[in-house]
Amino acid sequence: MRYGKFDDKRKEYVITRPDTPLPWINYLGCEAYFGIISNTAGGYSFYKDARLRRITRYRYNNAPFDMGGRYIYLRDAASGEFWSPSWMPTRHAAERYSCRHGMGYTTIGSTYNGIEGRTRYFVPMGENLEIWQLTVTNRRKKPAKLSVFSSIEFCLWDAWDDQTNFQRNFSTGQVEVEDGVIYHKTEYRERRDHFAYFACSEKLAGFDTQRDAFLGAYRGWDNPAVVESGRSANSIAHGWAPIGSHQVKISLTPGESKQIVFILGYQENPKDQKFLPADSQTVNKQNAKTVIAKYRDLQNVEAAFRALGQYWEETLSVLQVDTPDLHTNRMVNIWNAYQCMATFNMSRSASFYESGVGRGLGFRDSNQDLLGFVQMVPSRARERILDLAATQLKSGGAFHQYQPLTKRGNNDVGSGFNDDPLWLILGVNTYIKETGDASILNEKVPYENEPGSEKPLYDHLQRSLQYTLDRLGPHKLPLIGRADWNDCLNLNCFSDTPGQSFQTTTNKEGKTAESVFIGGLFVLAANELADLAETFDRRGDTKRYRWEAERMKETVRKHGWDGEWFVRAYDDFGRKVGSKECKEGQIFIESQGMCVMAGIGLKDGMAQKALESVKTRLATRHGIVLNQPAFTRYYIEYGEISSYPPGYKENAGIFCHNNPWIIIAETMAGNGDQALDYYLRINPSAREGIGEVHRCEPYVYPQMIAGRDAPTHGEAKNSWLTGTAAWNFYAITQFILGIRPTLKGLRIAPVIPSRWTGFTAVRKYRGVTYRITVKRSGKGNSVSLTVDGKAAPGDVLPLPAPGTDEVAVEATIN
Ligand code: GLC
Ligand code: GLC
Repeated sequence: MRYGKFDDKRKEYVITRPDTPLPWINYLGCEAYFGIISNTAGGYSFYKDARLRRITRYRYNNAPFDMGGRYIYLRDAASGEFWSPSWMPTRHAAERYSCRHGMGYTTIGSTYNGIEGRTRYFVPMGENLEIWQLTVTNRRKKPAKLSVFSSIEFCLWDAWDDQTNFQRNFSTGQVEVEDGVIYHKTEYRERRDHFAYFACSEKLAGFDTQRDAFLGAYRGWDNPAVVESGRSANSIAHGWAPIGSHQVKISLTPGESKQIVFILGYQENPKDQKFLPADSQTVNKQNAKTVIAKYRDLQNVEAAFRALGQYWEETLSVLQVDTPDLHTNRMVNIWNAYQCMATFNMSRSASFYESGVGRGLGFRDSNQDLLGFVQMVPSRARERILDLAATQLKSGGAFHQYQPLTKRGNNDVGSGFNDDPLWLILGVNTYIKETGDASILNEKVPYENEPGSEKPLYDHLQRSLQYTLDRLGPHKLPLIGRADWNDCLNLNCFSDTPGQSFQTTTNKEGKTAESVFIGGLFVLAANELADLAETFDRRGDTKRYRWEAERMKETVRKHGWDGEWFVRAYDDFGRKVGSKECKEGQIFIESQGMCVMAGIGLKDGMAQKALESVKTRLATRHGIVLNQPAFTRYYIEYGEISSYPPGYKENAGIFCHNNPWIIIAETMAGNGDQALDYYLRINPSAREGIGEVHRCEPYVYPQMIAGRDAPTHGEAKNSWLTGTAAWNFYAITQFILGIRPTLKGLRIAPVIPSRWTGFTAVRKYRGVTYRITVKRSGKGNSVSLTVDGKAAPGDVLPLPAPGTDEVAVEATIN
């Protein structure tokens, strides 16, 4: 069942009924000011950091699930009836409801009783504010007199404190109202030098800033007393819950439309210019007033919206493909790239499943996110890499996360994940492959953000590798530490106390439990670092790292092979995890994907055997599950993984993040048919028709789809913020379509399904636009290239002469 449709031309998803199985959301903003918005206008906004600088309040896990956001109410003066054109929160049976989620904007509206209301929400580029552009149209045969009410609820900045510290917070809220603009200034008198404002383009009939005055006691957003009565209370918040609401009265003749603009913004003032007059406690509003004046002018609003559109046209134009498969085209050209921007910006901090207070930017997550993001804005990837590396520990290890506002690492979500540092090598290499900018290796970056500890980034990469070598276990496989990529395989934890966090509780030192997965990752990373060293003339390092990679390969082959697949780990007792010797959890996806991606066993059939085992034991029609058989009871020696009911999350759920590892592995084994088949099983667009089963948005990947052991097999959860976005983008574009940046240039090595006769692509790479045509002439995967009509050897495009803007590439698959 469908709840909407793709409008590929406009790069929009159009939701045509408001009661989607779950809120279907979008992100506003892609620089510093961000918002999350659902298809019924729910959600919230923040500046840079969803935890520390929350602008509006949101209550997670609410009933209904999604309540509170950017609501507009229309009230008919004649009948006294009121409703919300976004359906929520009043839930009137509106006609012609639609929500168009586009690139950085969302338009929601409907018609009720002949009055159409439609609001376009977006964040202009370069601004710290959001615009709500409301158009009201009278489709009746008679004139209409209406009141328009806006509404938002301010958050008292620190979102965690805001939802827990009521004995203080009910007394601190403060606002000012001037010229119809509502200024939220809680804590501005003392240590904050920022405030929020909520403005309107029209002359007001009234306003409200105190929640209780607006809603009325014992009422909710579905039935505000002020809207019901048709008269704002002009309330001023003193403590309790500051909100922002404007009332505008309009009269419309039949057929007439009116636009009203609301501006919700964030403003910082220099410390010595906080107040005006300087000796007062009144907010200095000068800078804010300039911005507000700008966007009270509709022409500037339109211009800002066009600029946003251009930004996305340009950003997405880096790679556009035309393949025989609609779902591939749509995801690669529009939505998967767009989701990669969101995961780059948010890491795993703020979605409808990540509360914005739980997690900052993850070390391993952010490095992997670069795989799908780097081509869009390489300069920001560079900055991110340097930020991440600056939090690295001197041991080569990593803080598991850092807060974007402070850029300081912390242990709030645990530490000692032994895979963490290796991802930095992949992140950096991804950036250099894209840009050719090796200068980043010489950037001086501190350890643990400690001034004086600066070393070239290359040194950080070396320490990352050394970190693994310093921590080998009894089989000379890497020790797992708290966990590896799989946060929930906690082999040193032994937790028996309810409520204890598997991520942060005291661990055993752990000299026995080893990870075959990290073994594979190490091989991959060591070879990548060896490549880097080779390209930049550090021959000694190249030799050493290749040797280490080879040695680890041998170790994995010897101690990490179970006969038909790769073992997953050794536990604290030295027993195999992910082996036919186990009763449950005999086979895991991670070690199959990572070891084959690292090239282990490709020549001797081990890899093929492992992939065959994945196919027969792990693959389902909804995707590939993480492990089988699922754990049906709690294993204290395995930890969190066995705390999940069978089929969910890391316990045999379809963890979409590592499905692309298998997809990549299949292309490495030359199986284009199998690779695309797996790709389409979890491709959101391909799942659009089973909306009632899948339930999450059909335009972005979820973290997880319930596995075959779950009663809700096929049901997706945790949409948007997941490594799935980057890895799938990477798998389809670089391995199936085979357009792959390397240190030496752009490689063209497609492994496409046999039924495809070819495809075309435009790829902007290091300043050159490559127009690529791929044609299948034989049944294999070997490629011959012509470049601007001339045959070229190998499969890496030669660097074009300086000054070349465009190159035509023909690739023939033989
Ligand atoms: C979550 C985490 C990621 C981890 C994965 C598997 O997606 O963000 O870091 O690798 O779960 O546990
Ligand atoms: C839980 C989740 C895992 C996530 C982790 C983050 O362990 O199962 O997916 O990565 O929390 O801390």
